[in-house]
Amino acid sequence: MRVPLIAGNWKMNANLNEAIVLVQTMRRELDEIANIDKVLCPPFISLAAIRDLIKGSSIKLGAQNVYFEAKGAYTGEISPLMLADLCEYVIIGHSERRQYFNENDEIVNKKIMAALRTGLKPILCVGEKLEENEAGKTKEVVITQLKGSLAGITNISGLSVAYEPVWAIGTGKAATGEQANETIGFIRRTISKLYDEGISQDLRILYGGSVTADNVDEFVEKSEIDGALVGGASLKADQFISIVRQTSKIKQTR
Ligand code: 13P
Repeated sequence: MRVPLIAGNWKMNANLNEAIVLVQTMRRELDEIANIDKVLCPPFISLAAIRDLIKGSSIKLGAQNVYFEAKGAYTGEISPLMLADLCEYVIIGHSERRQYFNENDEIVNKKIMAALRTGLKPILCVGEKLEENEAGKTKEVVITQLKGSLAGITNISGLSVAYEPVWAIGTGKAATGEQANETIGFIRRTISKLYDEGISQDLRILYGGSVTADNVDEFVEKSEIDGALVGGASLKADQFISIVRQTSKIKQTR
């Protein structure tokens, strides 16, 4: 059985002080919710402080990006080795990185490889843009991203995938549970072909895009959907706690 996973992608929000307050507000309640992995992904500058705040709890930490080289003259970048000291997870290939920072599947591939080699657990983001969706190209886009991002990687143990349709991110227009379940089922079948059935059954695949406490049930009730990658709602303590609590409850009754 796959352990459900809810990750909060804070994006470029919360300074160090705000990050500390947010974690202090959520810590006790989040810690008590069982049978689910809860991952906070704050900006890099808050990782060390939050690591100390959640020490001894069941809350886990992730970064939002990583560079693929181990060290050297790469001004402004953060290496997998540096992250490995601080956190367990790392989001890779988010559509905002693809859109604003020109990340393509080749770069994403190098980052996934470097993260896995270092023992980090990557959350690989894939998803189609609005025009691709409207042109009926969702599966084509997703399969290209998966093949490109995982090229040459034989062992994906530790990896999760997040299906985040770009048109659903930050828009308040989430996909429907059916849409997300269909594409996520397709992602699993693709992984089964690229690797094998057992590996695809072990892989956690999340939905992301305008997830809130009001709509999360619709996604996590679906058999293929193992959790969510949450943006805006992860910055509100009560919302995020509810999302985690509801997911844990629903998945336990399946
Ligand atoms: P929102 O939940 O704000 O739509 O963001 C989704 C996302 O991009 C998570 O990585």
